[in-house]
Amino acid sequence: MAARDATSTLKNAPQSDVTQARKAFYDKIGRANCTPLWEVLHNLIPVTPHTPCKPYLWKWDTVWPWIQEAGTLITAKEAERRVLVLENPGMRGQSRITHSLYAGLQLILPGEVAPAHRHTQSALRFILQGAGAYTAVDGEKVTMKVGDFVITPSWTFHDHGNPSREPMVWLDGLDVPLVEILDAQFMEKAPQETQQTRRTEGENLAQFGNTMKPVEYKARSKTSPLFWYPYERTREALETMTSGHDAHPCWGYKLQYTNPVTGDWAMPTIGTFMQLLPAGYKGNDYRSTDSTVYAVVEGRGRAIIGGETFAYGPRDVFVCPSWMPYRLEADAQAVLFSFSDRPVQQALDLWREMV
Ligand SMILES: [Fe+2]
Repeated sequence: MAARDATSTLKNAPQSDVTQARKAFYDKIGRANCTPLWEVLHNLIPVTPHTPCKPYLWKWDTVWPWIQEAGTLITAKEAERRVLVLENPGMRGQSRITHSLYAGLQLILPGEVAPAHRHTQSALRFILQGAGAYTAVDGEKVTMKVGDFVITPSWTFHDHGNPSREPMVWLDGLDVPLVEILDAQFMEKAPQETQQTRRTEGENLAQFGNTMKPVEYKARSKTSPLFWYPYERTREALETMTSGHDAHPCWGYKLQYTNPVTGDWAMPTIGTFMQLLPAGYKGNDYRSTDSTVYAVVEGRGRAIIGGETFAYGPRDVFVCPSWMPYRLEADAQAVLFSFSDRPVQQALDLWREMV
């Protein structure tokens, strides 16, 4: 009855009166923290993903001088982590590379230490330049090389150091925005700057990197117990695949990093991949709901994202937003690392792709 009254009232009233009446109503309910859904519904429930994430490529040749300059301005110890955050142009000031993930380029100079801490945010390291720096996770050191993928699981102590003679740079990927939206952030500094090494280097790879596991192993978390995935093994696996199969029309030859015990994702919040595109490869358009960050290990080519062409080369980083069609091309054989929030979307029955 009341709705019919409103309809007839609105029909006869001038538009300016209706607008004024609505504004007065919004102001009144707004004072008690209520708001009309009909003013925001289309933004809240869009027909297709509506992301602030924009396509972008960070050229290594551009950022490398700035990374070196940062090394002259602040020490790793003073900074705690000396990182240039890769901020998506659609989300400046928010420390995000996609809507749900953080990424940055971290520099450790010879002789430096980035002190030990732990946090609930999970982190991945993907090594872009240098060899000989280490990361220590839960009392085990691993010496990293270009192309290695290293995991720092949620709430594990980690520190980084560089006893080598060359600067080392890696791409950090963290689930910072995801953990932020859940208000589940905790952080703690370790009592000592560097962790006591409790395990022999390589022990973790020996235990979990050979399709076997210690018989007494019991999982403590959903994160892979293997925290170091050396590039030479990944590279060899991809290379071997090229002789037995045709390249996929959208992604060439692509492998997903897994938890070797469960076969599930290596990290519960971040999906990680490595793919090889043969020389001359021209991929078809592809899109998925997980905005994806790519880091180039080898080769050159182009990513055509939403109709915009980005030429890529070694150590470049680029981002493909949710549901925006993109295709990949390679001039020389290319190897690309990538990561996204796909495990979270799949766990929540949200993930979609269009091949
Ligand atoms: Fe950290």
